[in-house]
Amino acid sequence: MIMPIANIAIIGAGTMGQGITQLCAQYGYTTWLYDVQDGAAEKTRQRIVQALDKRVTKGRMTPEDADAALARVSVANSLVELAEADLVVEAIVENIAIKRTLFAELEGLCRADVLLCTNTSSLSVGEIAAELHTPQRFAGLHFFNPPTAMKLVEVVSTDATTKTTLQTLHDFARSLGKTPVAVSDSPGFIVNRCARPFYGEALWLLEHGAASVATIDACLKSGGGFPLGPFELIDLVGLDINLRATETVWRAFDRHPRFRPSPLVADKVAADELGRKGGVGFYRYDDGHDEDPF
Ligand code: NAI
Repeated sequence: MIMPIANIAIIGAGTMGQGITQLCAQYGYTTWLYDVQDGAAEKTRQRIVQALDKRVTKGRMTPEDADAALARVSVANSLVELAEADLVVEAIVENIAIKRTLFAELEGLCRADVLLCTNTSSLSVGEIAAELHTPQRFAGLHFFNPPTAMKLVEVVSTDATTKTTLQTLHDFARSLGKTPVAVSDSPGFIVNRCARPFYGEALWLLEHGAASVATIDACLKSGGGFPLGPFELIDLVGLDINLRATETVWRAFDRHPRFRPSPLVADKVAADELGRKGGVGFYRYDDGHDEDPF
């Protein structure tokens, strides 16, 4: 039997962990945020304070609601403190071995009725769950960046995920004001699969000197109707995350040239130019490009 969901554990206090925590707290859930790096979850809680303040300043939230949301965000200093969660959302580094190790540990810590979810953007959900003893309660719960603004949640099932698990996750996503869609465990799911050629063509144009970053973004926005250009989007997602997703889909299709990772992105990752989160990506974020697009 699945228990009602009230307490959410979010693991990984980076870009996505921050947004998912804030979202769940805004919608009335008690949240616990954990990160393996000392002090990272506390820093992220401070960023949530700033994000909530901004909402209040913009008139999107009352100060009372912001205070109430913040009161629902706690920092956990160890995985053991997450044992009372009803649902776990993992948003750690996009690395299958590290994710597997984490879920094996969680399986030993959490009650048998706790739902375990990964926010992976491109890894196989079935492969992450392959060594679990209770894969029936495991699924992908793929939020988009930033989770507080983007409506879609891809709910990814494996052969082992039960209908009850999926139903509960769809209901949970709806309770956060989201639109859940059921997707199968195929490379890149739906959005990240279709997004590969979008990024890929823009990068190809840049590699061949056909147009500048700013020109390509401006064309896609004003002529294509996209809210962000491909380079703005890569910077928002994080170049490391974007590269990992492209590599996963490329490998899944036997290194088909259509999905080839761009050396431009790989070079920037090697130079630690990871996008908006680090201050430099295809743009610099100290020159007027720092306004949050949402
Ligand atoms: P990030 O790099 O901003 O944050 C990852 C965090 O996980 C870091 O704070 C790191 O210290 C922590 N971490 C690493 N290993 C850990 C462990 N074993 N236990 C606890 N914490 C650990 O990454 P981001 O962008 O938040 O991505 C997280 C996940 O969400 C990835 O699987 C990514 O593919 C997925 N995702 C990312 C999106 C994006 O736009 N950035 C969109 C949707 C999904």
